[in-house]
Amino acid sequence: MPADAPPRPTRALSGIQPTGRFHWGNYFGAIRQYIDLQPAATGSSTSHQAADEAYYFIADLHALTTVREPSRLRELVHAAAVDLLALGLDPERAVLFVQSDVPEVAELTWLLMTVTPMGLLERCHAYKDKKSRGLPADAGLFTYPVLMAADILAYDATVVPVGEDQVQHIEVCRDLAGTFNHLYGDVFTLPKPRLVEGGAKVPGTDGQKMSKSYDNTIEVFEEPGAQKKKIMRITTDSRPMGQPKDPEGDHLFDLFALMAPEADRQAMADLYRRGGFGYGEVKKALVEASASYFADARGRRAALEADPGQVEGILAAGAARARAKAAEVLSRARRACGLSRGEPANPKAGKGRSA
Ligand code: TYM
Repeated sequence: MPADAPPRPTRALSGIQPTGRFHWGNYFGAIRQYIDLQPAATGSSTSHQAADEAYYFIADLHALTTVREPSRLRELVHAAAVDLLALGLDPERAVLFVQSDVPEVAELTWLLMTVTPMGLLERCHAYKDKKSRGLPADAGLFTYPVLMAADILAYDATVVPVGEDQVQHIEVCRDLAGTFNHLYGDVFTLPKPRLVEGGAKVPGTDGQKMSKSYDNTIEVFEEPGAQKKKIMRITTDSRPMGQPKDPEGDHLFDLFALMAPEADRQAMADLYRRGGFGYGEVKKALVEASASYFADARGRRAALEADPGQVEGILAAGAARARAKAAEVLSRARRACGLSRGEPANPKAGKGRSA
């Protein structure tokens, strides 16, 4: 790019599955980034990390590989929208939509499938994990990363905010986009993952990565009594009360550090290093930190729950905007690979779209 060329606009995009209520891993790994990357509202100054555009969606097609009850899926999709809005996603600044409302993505998945080596998918961890546990896997789970690649490429996304567990899938996306571009010209923009320090792999109550599959989650909007019980049950080591401890790498401290104000975080780190404290004390502090961190969001959520029509309206408007963008990219891809008769191949071929 010449030195005086205008910088390429950045477009953030990410998806989240509505397979249950969002947990702290989803929030601190991904949702918090979605919010930071939203462009500033018209008239206010841009935050240094904001993208020029932001697209976020509820991945109901991906969720179909696990949620088999139609009414439950519908409820979970609506609840996911309520929670994202309550947590700070602003439909004036970001496009919020449901994955299956953009059927163009399914067609794009097929185009990508034709350039996907089997071996690439065999190495992907969601499928590999299930297979290694002897569980039956369907073609939906096997080809899941191709749908995810289509999700990203359909919007010319440049940056994909995610937790660490999704990085492999973004690599697959880049691979497929690269192969397609190599065969047919410059069709797709190559995206980059975006991770946040401290949030890329949020630990669960047992210290492993927080995940529904490990049954170690704490939900963001869990009823406070139930949430307190889970926090009080977080596993700890058998260090005697008086003994100092390095806060680094202690999962209870890590969780506290994610939501406590900086001064409290420092004070807690000092307490760890001095010793003379019990883990019960830290857990109580975590209960309070979480209550105050999410208090405003809980309030907004109650208001949104009382107005389902408003939430569905936001999703419909988001779907219309997302479809317009995806249709443009799909038509570029169709033309490039010869599916559109009477139209030139890709007019942008050779211009270099790598982000
Ligand atoms: P999903 O629904 O499993 O998770 C949503 C987001 O939460 C992040 N996350 C975590 N981050 C840090 N620590 C944790 N313990 C933790 N647990 C979950 C995930 O990394 C993710 O960013 N395949 C995706 C959904 C998807 C998608 C996409 C994402 C579909 N299409 C296109 C990006 C772009 C998934 O299952 O995420």
